Amino acid sequence: MKKKDEPHYKKVFPIEQQEEHKVSRRQFISFVGMGSLIAIALSWFKVNEKLFNSENKNGEFKAATTNEIPVGKSKNISHPETHKPIILIHLTQDNYVAYSQSCTHLMCPVHYNNTKQQLVCPCHEGYFDVKNGDVLKGPPPKPLPSYDVRIQGKNIYLG
Ligand code: FES
Repeated sequence: MKKKDEPHYKKVFPIEQQEEHKVSRRQFISFVGMGSLIAIALSWFKVNEKLFNSENKNGEFKAATTNEIPVGKSKNISHPETHKPIILIHLTQDNYVAYSQSCTHLMCPVHYNNTKQQLVCPCHEGYFDVKNGDVLKGPPPKPLPSYDVRIQGKNIYLG
């Protein structure tokens, strides 16, 4: 076929069909070698993530750092696995408490009232004791589920 009669794609992409499937030994070895290196690197990262990640031992997870929440304030977080809302409250100097943020009545989010030392559900005026999560008033049928709080250095872990 003359160059002049060739279809346009042949001019733009001038590779003969026989050459399209030709892979040299060097290209094949290079491809397999790169694939192996990538697989080894991914495995290494996965193993080290498990070895050095102390944030998830015994079901614990890092919720915050101590300098994030001043005394009398709270922080809303999401459980890293269940994504359930949690409220973490800094009560006094070294005292933190954490509860499910979902009201035990109809799951509305509760918020912290520092002045009254209560967790308040605005939906139907449910009130919980901030020290233990017990129901103080309103329709909630049971206390707020709590989380264990552990402080290590500047990190706050919940479990
Ligand atoms: Fe909280 Fe009803 S949902 S009191």
